[in-house]
Amino acid sequence: MEKLTSKRHYLDFNATSPFAPSVSEWLSKGDLLYANPSSVHATGKKGRKFLNEARDYIYKTFKLDPKEFDLVFHSGASEGVNALVKGRALHLLTENKKLNFFRSATDHSSVRNMQADLELLGHKMTIFPVKETGEIDVDSLIEEINKAEGEVLLNFTPMNNETGVCWDWKLANKIKKETNCIVHMDTVQTVGKVPGWNELDSEMDLFTYSAHKFGALKGVGFSFIKKGFKFRPFISGGGQQGGLRSGTENTVGVYTIKLALEDLENEDLSEIEKAKTLFEEGLKKILGDKGHIVGEKAELRAVNTTNFITPGLISQTTAIALDMAGIDISTGSACSSGAVIPSKVLQGMGYSDEDAMSAIRVSFGPDFKEEQVKPILDIFEKVLNKNL
Ligand SMILES: Cc1ncc(COP(=O)(O)O)c(C=O)c1O
Repeated sequence: MEKLTSKRHYLDFNATSPFAPSVSEWLSKGDLLYANPSSVHATGKKGRKFLNEARDYIYKTFKLDPKEFDLVFHSGASEGVNALVKGRALHLLTENKKLNFFRSATDHSSVRNMQADLELLGHKMTIFPVKETGEIDVDSLIEEINKAEGEVLLNFTPMNNETGVCWDWKLANKIKKETNCIVHMDTVQTVGKVPGWNELDSEMDLFTYSAHKFGALKGVGFSFIKKGFKFRPFISGGGQQGGLRSGTENTVGVYTIKLALEDLENEDLSEIEKAKTLFEEGLKKILGDKGHIVGEKAELRAVNTTNFITPGLISQTTAIALDMAGIDISTGSACSSGAVIPSKVLQGMGYSDEDAMSAIRVSFGPDFKEEQVKPILDIFEKVLNKNL
């Protein structure tokens, strides 16, 4: 295919983010806190000091009180969510109780794929439906939770990674008040993409984040854990982090979380949203009646994400064409043994396999501006017109 541009457009921020400017600058200086932060010598203490500084900053950013929540660093959200949910499941075994883990039809694979392990331990996973828009029917969910057997731990995803459809944080509060279940907030995608992302509701029990989604390093993340929430840590080791997560802390990674969050302090979400709206207006003209934006009618959507389906096309083919033309995007479908597997998230919203196999996800970053829209749309127009 003809090369349409020499400049690449990275439009895959929900998969991972490039390093935030302060992170790149700090890493390039090379003074990288190599010591073990548990060591008592001066070099170790320096690492501990940076860790503590980052910790204080993270509590402050998300407006949670260290007296109410533990902050535990780990390798990222997949570990975080597994440690909390399966850790609770293990703990309940010691009390002869059963866990009933509620997750939605559109949750991330790290949440979805815990089913086999939970069942192996004798617990249960309940999958609740979402509407066509990807939103939840909160009253039905409350009813179902109140009827459920076992201890209910609900996974609530305020922003969906594939569609950008958001669930109002207030709904989680309503569910908590009317059911008294334990609530885990899968807040991985929210940072810098959803208004109010840094105003966490202290009535919730658990929150989990991955640092690489907002400009810090990969291989590091964190969870806020309400004090009093008991779980059995599945890593046995040196008892770091108050025994909640053994293993030497990733000092460099943790410090980059602070730097990346600092860079987001003055972010203007409305600027990104304006540019995304302009992009969607152009995209809809290109698609005509041959496709549509997923979840467009949802009440709340992330400022940075557009997922669209083009019935009849295979997303992998579109993605390759866009890639060759200089655009990095994602598809929700996956390739396994040569076959394309439709997006589980879109299937969860009721889309047919064919439609779910055609979805393209575009996700913009914190610096996305209106002037960047036209060159991107020009490429989409050329690629899609060839294929639609
Ligand atoms: C909503 C959500 N939860 C959990 C995860 C898992 O994060 P990680 O792959 O960094 O472990 C992701 C990653 O895309 C996500 O989008």
